[in-house]
Amino acid sequence: MTPEAMTAEARLRRPGRPHVLIGACGSANILNLPTYLTTIASDCGAELRVVLTASAGAFLPAASLRLLVERVAAADDPPLAHNHVEWARWADLVCVLPATAHTIAAAAHGLADSFLTTTLLAHHHSVTFFPSMNEQMLGNPAVRRNIKTLREDGHQIVLPRPGLSYEAASGTYEERLSVPGPEAVARYVSGALRLRTGAAGKAAKAETAEAGEAPEVKEKGEVPEAVEKGEVSEAAEKGESRAAG
Ligand SMILES: Cc1cc2nc3c(=O)[nH]c(=O)nc-3n(C[C@H](O)[C@H](O)[C@H](O)COP(=O)(O)O)c2cc1C
Repeated sequence: MTPEAMTAEARLRRPGRPHVLIGACGSANILNLPTYLTTIASDCGAELRVVLTASAGAFLPAASLRLLVERVAAADDPPLAHNHVEWARWADLVCVLPATAHTIAAAAHGLADSFLTTTLLAHHHSVTFFPSMNEQMLGNPAVRRNIKTLREDGHQIVLPRPGLSYEAASGTYEERLSVPGPEAVARYVSGALRLRTGAAGKAAKAETAEAGEAPEVKEKGEVPEAVEKGEVSEAAEKGESRAAG
């Protein structure tokens, strides 16, 4: 275990709120981020920071998020306003939510071309990615390769699941793949934080797996079987989901 990881373990055992860092990318789904943030903060008792990519900031202004969380790092902040190492060490858990194909590719290739990707590289634990994209993008061999690489590097991927959601491109609200809803994500975060303390046991594992009504807890397999077969609408089960791009 690295010294940074030991520090994080010690922090998790200290009284006080665990630290969750959310890296948010430029998917239309980011419009739902405020609900995810408030649900995670209240259900997990967590202190939150958000890193917005430049694209994310075009969808949702940092100023809006500053009403909800302790600190937000945005691409148009003054140079050197934030230190990626400090942010990476601060976090007990890092989630990329929503995670675009672009940021997934950047992380899979170890790029450090933004504050978010640099912070991901500097973090001492694995990172959880919540991909948000339509089924064509998710089924694209390049995206699947990148997801596989992230898994092989030890990161967690919580794949989208079928449910009713809004698509900006078509202006329709119907059954499609989307990120699990806020309550399911909060359960995942809660379970992941408890697992990280080492005091998790079966209960935390079950909580994390429950969010994985989502397929993220599948150890193997890059995309849901239905996506592989191109049968998402037929295979779709009812469930709460959030808007996709
Ligand atoms: C309206 C709109 C919606 C988009 N939705 C998504 C999406 O859901 N998933 C995705 O991977 N990219 C989506 N994109 C493309 C990303 O914004 C683009 O790839 C961007 O470079 C991502 O940068 P980032 O990963 O640094 O945030 C969307 C673009 C637009 C204009």
